[in-house]
Amino acid sequence: MKAVILVGGEGMRLRPLTCSIPKSMVPIVNRPFLEHMIDYLKEHAIDDIILALWYLPHSIQSYFGDGSSFGVKLTYVVESSPLGTAGAVKNVEQHLDETFFVFNGDIFTDIDLTQMMRLHRQRGAKVSIALTPVEDPTIYGVVETDSGGRVKRFIEKPRREEAPSNMINSGAYIIEPEVLSHVPPGLNFTFERELFPLLLERGDPVYSYPSDAYWIDIGTPEKYLQLHHDLLAGRVKKTFPGERAGEGIWVEEGCDIHPQAKLEGPTIIGRNCLIGPGVRVMGPSVIGQGCHIGRDSLIQGAILWHNTRLGQGVALKNCVVAESVSIGDRSQVMEGCVLGNNVVLGCDERLAQGARVWPEESHPLP
Ligand code: GDD
Ligand code: MG
Repeated sequence: MKAVILVGGEGMRLRPLTCSIPKSMVPIVNRPFLEHMIDYLKEHAIDDIILALWYLPHSIQSYFGDGSSFGVKLTYVVESSPLGTAGAVKNVEQHLDETFFVFNGDIFTDIDLTQMMRLHRQRGAKVSIALTPVEDPTIYGVVETDSGGRVKRFIEKPRREEAPSNMINSGAYIIEPEVLSHVPPGLNFTFERELFPLLLERGDPVYSYPSDAYWIDIGTPEKYLQLHHDLLAGRVKKTFPGERAGEGIWVEEGCDIHPQAKLEGPTIIGRNCLIGPGVRVMGPSVIGQGCHIGRDSLIQGAILWHNTRLGQGVALKNCVVAESVSIGDRSQVMEGCVLGNNVVLGCDERLAQGARVWPEESHPLP
């Protein structure tokens, strides 16, 4: 079966994590987000995947190639200017000759796509939209349905008083190819503000597929951290690479962990890490491959990408530290902080709660 994944967005709300890579390449437990998504699609017999790209397409293409090492066929189509969600699918129309799935490229979910397809066919729908309940519908597309599940209204990012329900568009659709005849070629056009309202006005059969499966949009640092905490707490079914080195602790090959370091689960440690004496790692934490953690440092609920270096007595709490970051002795990075790739933080620095440090910004070295 075929799917289009929309991976063209700039991922602005995730910056600085997306300054040099697209949102779909952001690591989730040490593997690019998109790799997890491909695994999920394969479970539902979706193995012919078209990637609609715009922002930083090369990092995706060079990692995944033709998809064969990941057990799927991948086709890349790069837009010359961003075409919007529906415009991006119209732009790959030549590859779509049968009923297909579309996914926003930033949703992590285990919605039952096989069941969704069964219902789509049974109902003779032109479009099916998977729905998920959320607390704050105002930052999503809100969907109103009748008692038979048929969509009556679609309102993108409504004000609180305009939201008819808390069931939102999860960013997973099944679409019949003929629907694309309503999308103008080469123009910016979205499903959410243009195509869905148009189909509803025409009276076309648009159905919902409500699901209470796990679902999250990784589009902000808070949600990115949340997904890690959920995965590590076992709220989503997932197996982790590496050896179990204790209750909820997985360590990949080539690590040198000092006997006086203390690890508490759930924690995942990537390949070739060096962890010094007196270090304390408290879950839920992830340490990317090739990281060096200096003696007496504390990592508590933090996500570290590859090749980061921490000096001695560093404290990281509930934060995200991207690739090849260097943090000097005794520095502290507090809750909700996000450090972009290659950031250098000197000694005795303190980053207050929620600080974001961009790649080009470096703090004084000793
Ligand atoms: N190729 C391409 N071209 N992809 C794009 C473009 C484009 O011009 N614009 C956005 N995308 C991709 C993004 O990369 C992302 O994967 C997806 O489309 C959705 O864009 P977001 O920017 O993440 O949208 P959102 O999260 O604010 O809202 C969307 O997702 C919600 C669920 O997470 C909407 O579809 C909402 O209705 C929905 O509730
Ligand atoms: Mg999103």
